[in-house]
Amino acid sequence: MSAVTIKVRDNGPLLVEGPVTIVDATGNKFTVAPDKPAVALCRCGTSQHKPFCDGSHKTCNFQAAERAPIQAEIS
Ligand code: FES
Repeated sequence: MSAVTIKVRDNGPLLVEGPVTIVDATGNKFTVAPDKPAVALCRCGTSQHKPFCDGSHKTCNFQAAERAPIQAEIS
């Protein structure tokens, strides 16, 4: 199984890398081009193509820049 990575973009979408299937609340699949290396999911709420990002976050003053806590090394 291939790994999926979700990158949290500053002031922008969630970038999902890896083989994923995206379904709506009733289980119907959204079409995602199989050759796309990543899918950007809107988290600002202003996209006209939800759940996908359409770049609207750039004009709605969406601000978010979360950082994961630094993990202490376990020895
Ligand atoms: S995050 Fe890009 S349009 Fe919402």
